[in-house]
Amino acid sequence: MKVVVARTLPAAGLDKLTARFDVEIGGLPFDRDWLDAHAPGASAIVADPTVPVDGELLDRAGDTLQVVANFAVGFDNIDTDAVRERGLRATNTPDVLTNATAELAVALMQAAGRRIVETDQIFRRGEWVGWEPEQFLGRELHGATVGLVGFGRIGQRVAELLAGFDVELVFTDAHPMDEAAAKYGARRLELDELLAVSDYVSLHVNLTPETKHLFDAPTLAGCKPGAILVNTCRGGVVDTAALVDALKDGPLAAAGLDVYENEPAVPEELVALANTVLVPHIGSATRVTRDAMASLCADNVIAVLDGEEPPTPVV
Ligand code: 8YV
Repeated sequence: MKVVVARTLPAAGLDKLTARFDVEIGGLPFDRDWLDAHAPGASAIVADPTVPVDGELLDRAGDTLQVVANFAVGFDNIDTDAVRERGLRATNTPDVLTNATAELAVALMQAAGRRIVETDQIFRRGEWVGWEPEQFLGRELHGATVGLVGFGRIGQRVAELLAGFDVELVFTDAHPMDEAAAKYGARRLELDELLAVSDYVSLHVNLTPETKHLFDAPTLAGCKPGAILVNTCRGGVVDTAALVDALKDGPLAAAGLDVYENEPAVPEELVALANTVLVPHIGSATRVTRDAMASLCADNVIAVLDGEEPPTPVV
């Protein structure tokens, strides 16, 4: 059977696939023409968030195709209706990246709150004039109210990691999450209530039509003055132009961002702002996590092609 890897996959997953299948690898950067040319006859396509998987691609693969395996927990790149309509399976890689992404969210809270990147740059430019009593003042997590928008696996892990900081935890979620709320001592609020009280707001939702630009100008205007926004989920959840305005004119004091609306484009307006910490989609970028994701991705392919239920299906 032929497995088409649209871009590439760490060896922890690739080796499992090459041991069993005829694997064709597109390489980097993503080349849609290559994928279109190699899809016909594929039993599985390995994709990631930079690879749009639509009905046209599925049809091009033809009736050999059984599964689209995403190397990511997010699967907004996949037209899941098109997958379902064709009786195919789609899989993702949840759980294994929960901690890495949650740790990055906390790191961005601290980097933005304590102005770590801004002051690093001042220091490197040789502009530091020496210690002063009220220089470079930031804000602590200790005693802050942290609002988690989305209280799934990653949101809950952030709550768990923050336990030692003595924060007040509030969250929004489509589901009541009563058990998790009790476990982490977090209070469920409506989004507007959460924004009004949160010193830090951290985003942990899937990108869907409902969450696209959830953080637009009116929503951002409802943030507490001086709040810090952290986004490690998907850039499309935040309207970039509105974010720039909220960072320039308030109410936001700073933002820590891992994800962007049109990756890999970096919005110049955000780069120009000293109160942003910008990292290039590194939420799951640790050796141990990317290997675990690759391995799980391959396990999903193998299970479906063996006629078994995949470990982590989304369709
Ligand atoms: C990855 C992610 O960095 O899993 C996701 O949804 O966005 C990140 O973990 C990326 O998707 C790599 O494939």
